[in-house]
Amino acid sequence: MDNKAFFKLSYGLFLAGVEYQQKYNACIINTASQATSSPPVMLATMLKSNLTTELFLSKKSMNISVISQNCSLDVINHFGLNSGRDIDKFENTSFAVDKYKNPFIEEGMNARFVCTLNTAKELSTHYLFILDVENSFVLSDEKPMTYADYRVMKNNSDRLIKSSNRSWVCSICHYVYDGATPFEELDENYKCPVCGKGKEYFICET
Ligand SMILES: Cc1cc2nc3c(=O)[nH]c(=O)nc-3n(C[C@H](O)[C@H](O)[C@H](O)COP(=O)(O)O)c2cc1C
Repeated sequence: MDNKAFFKLSYGLFLAGVEYQQKYNACIINTASQATSSPPVMLATMLKSNLTTELFLSKKSMNISVISQNCSLDVINHFGLNSGRDIDKFENTSFAVDKYKNPFIEEGMNARFVCTLNTAKELSTHYLFILDVENSFVLSDEKPMTYADYRVMKNNSDRLIKSSNRSWVCSICHYVYDGATPFEELDENYKCPVCGKGKEYFICET
């Protein structure tokens, strides 16, 4: 099997938002897609370990927004590289809620779907969710951001961070910190979003 074949598949990028017991949370997913148009059904594959997944399994409804090309890398990194288990992702972000109180942001998104859980199929590390789409909205005419667009943006940004001589790298998994907050100012409870090790495992590479 040539695993590189999977890189030939194209994906979009989405923000999945859930509220449960007054906890507002959202994470980035690249695995949302349309399954059927009539009835309107979508699919999404979400990590079991994500807080968003846990909240969704209890709530059984969520908002899925389509990220557009004018969305900043900071927003994607904020929701995709941090867990709501460690920070309140909506603390400094203005957001609205749908009829289920599930949160969404409109800036940098071009469409939004109100989804409810039809079926959860357990896979090894993920759940595959079959989602009934209850409502949908077009927010702008901006083009959707693809996962490949995101990789280009991220690689350019990583190069800039490296060239600024202030590259903080996880010594365990080699993740390069690239959040908006300077690494030195991060909370002491900060954890590597990839391997979960604490701040003390990061080393400053010049
Ligand atoms: C570009 C990108 C794509 C991602 N795609 C998915 C995905 O399809 N499914 C998923 O469960 N997590 C995906 N993630 C990871 C989650 O967004 C990440 O684990 C997040 O920290 C979970 O936050 P939470 O614990 O607050 O839910 C992706 C992250 C990024 C940056």
